[in-house]
Formats: sequence, structure tokens, C-alpha cells
Amino acid sequence: MYEAEAPVNIALVKYWGKRDVSLNLPTNSSLSVTLETCTSSDLQLVTRTIVEPHHEDSVILNGVESAPNERIKRCLKYLRSIADFPCVKVRTENMFPTAAGLASSASGYAALVTAISGMIPLDANQKSIAARLGSGSACRSLFDGFVLWESGIQTDGSDSISKSIIAPGHWPELCCLVLILSAAEKAVSSAAGMERTVHTSELFPSRLEKVPDHIAHLLRAIEQRDFSKFAELVMRDSNQFHAVCMDSYPPVFYLNEASRTVIHLVHGYNRENVRLAYTFDAGPNAFIFCLEAELQSAKELFLSQIPGLATSNIVECRVGRGAH
Ligand code: DP6
Repeated sequence: MYEAEAPVNIALVKYWGKRDVSLNLPTNSSLSVTLETCTSSDLQLVTRTIVEPHHEDSVILNGVESAPNERIKRCLKYLRSIADFPCVKVRTENMFPTAAGLASSASGYAALVTAISGMIPLDANQKSIAARLGSGSACRSLFDGFVLWESGIQTDGSDSISKSIIAPGHWPELCCLVLILSAAEKAVSSAAGMERTVHTSELFPSRLEKVPDHIAHLLRAIEQRDFSKFAELVMRDSNQFHAVCMDSYPPVFYLNEASRTVIHLVHGYNRENVRLAYTFDAGPNAFIFCLEAELQSAKELFLSQIPGLATSNIVECRVGRGAH
């Protein structure tokens, strides 16, 4: 029996668009932070996975058994091309709502690959490729701290690899509050949304030109622990990603009323002095960054201003380690 646990990651510069759909090869590089949930939180933003030899490949996700889907098959096929291993039963539990824009596929495939790395020897690049075949953003949950996933240029994806580039200990005061504003499944999957954007958004090519600069500037802000630069770059990238979604045809919307309230609250709060940043993936839930000294007042702000938000819907995280 081989066990693994993988955390979620939140993209600071988003992966949005594929240059190869079946290999999950992205149109642009992306930068993320791996989130470690503080033990005080009710929900843990992790996936726990156990694999064991079985007479056929099967998956039990949150207690429900099914045959492996195409993504899992692709991931297992690649892993078996490196070193053969028997059929496996994969038991996997998400400690948080599935498919609510909380990147459960990211932690899920990172946990799967890490559990299988107990059965066969895999190097970091092979793990990254295997996780990416399951879900693009999963390749970033394997690694610690701030993680860069290079888009690469090879058609086989051999250079589309993620790696940790800044260790978690570099900025210990950086906190992330995840505000769970909805646990509903998203109407348009990331894969379908990306495809629509790539084929229909007129603004998308101009985003692609700018992403390398976003990454370079953000890395500098992180290296210098410059929160106010970090905040502006993170919020602008999130807004731009949602703008190209809306520029897709028919438009794709991931934010809801509560998400928009969060955006207004943050800009109001930052008027004198930049103390908060938001980012949203393909869902309405908000990821709020702040420094430790601001944590309490940030929580109070959202609890008092977002109707229906309770302490149990706020998950407190720090920059943490990847799958293990
Ligand atoms: C908005 O990694 O879920 O969260 O490769 O099709 O599985 P697939 O897509 P996925 O897309 C993530 C999109 C995003 C941005 C990000 O995490 O970079």
C-alpha cells in the first residue's frame, strides 16, 4: 500500500489555454503558490490517496467507485511506459468540495503520481509530466513554495515541466485566506472554457504576449517581498484571465455576486495602503493574500461584509510544501 497527500495550489499567473489538448500542453507558462492549510482550519485543502495492487485499475473517489476516466488512463499509461507496475486500486479523498474552483484535480493527480512513485522510481520531471497529463495545474502541486510551470515548445511536451523556484520559507509572513463562497460545481469546466477562449477570444493573443512579463515582474516582487507590487500583479492577472473568459464567445463567467463584492471590498480597503490581494481561478471562490499582521482584520472585513460567510467557510493557509 502506498500513500500520498497533495495540497492545492493557486495560480498567481494563470494557465489558461492549451496548445495541445490531449497532452495538456499550455499556451503560456504559469506561476503558482503551493498552499499548506493551517491546522486550525475545519477544512484541509489536500487530497489523500492510497494505491494498492488490484486485479484491474479502479478508482474510489470520496467513497464512490468507478472505472478510471481518460485522464487517469493517460497518466497511468505514461507512468507504465517508464516502469511497469501492476493494476491498482486508487482510493482518493478530497478534504474539501470537489469541482468548486478549488483545484481538486490539481491535488488529486499530484497525490496519485506521488503515491505511484512509491511503486516505481520517478524523477521530478517524470512526475511533473505524469501529473500534467492528468490535469495541467496538477504538475504545480507536486512542488514546494512558488512554482513555475514552463510552457515549453516541444510538441511531445518533454520540456513542459514545473519546478519550485522559491522555497516556502522565503516569505513566511505571506498568508492566504480561501473564502469558500460557493460549493456548487462549475457550469463550464476549465478544459471547455480554455478551448472556447483559445478559439474565440480576440483579447487572448494579447494576453499571451504579456504573460512572460507578468511572471518576471511577479518573481521580482516575491524575491523582494514587496507586498504592494505582488498584490497589484496578482489581482491584474486574475482580472485579465476573467476578462478573456468574458471575451470568449459565448462568454464564460466564473465569478458570482459574492466574488465581485470581494473585489470591491479589497480595492476599498487598499485605498490608502495596499494590504490585501485577491485572485480567482475558474470558480467564484476567493483566494485572499495578506501579510500575517493583517490577517485578523482581513477576516473581520469579509465576515462582516459578505452575506452568509461564516468562519467555517474561511480556510487559512501559508506557503507550503508540495505533494509527499
Ligand atoms: C483557472 O488544470 O484544471 O485554475 O489541464 O484541463 O485539467 P486541465 O485544466 P486545469 O486548469 C486550471 C485553470 C486555472 C488556472 C491555473 O490553475 O493556472
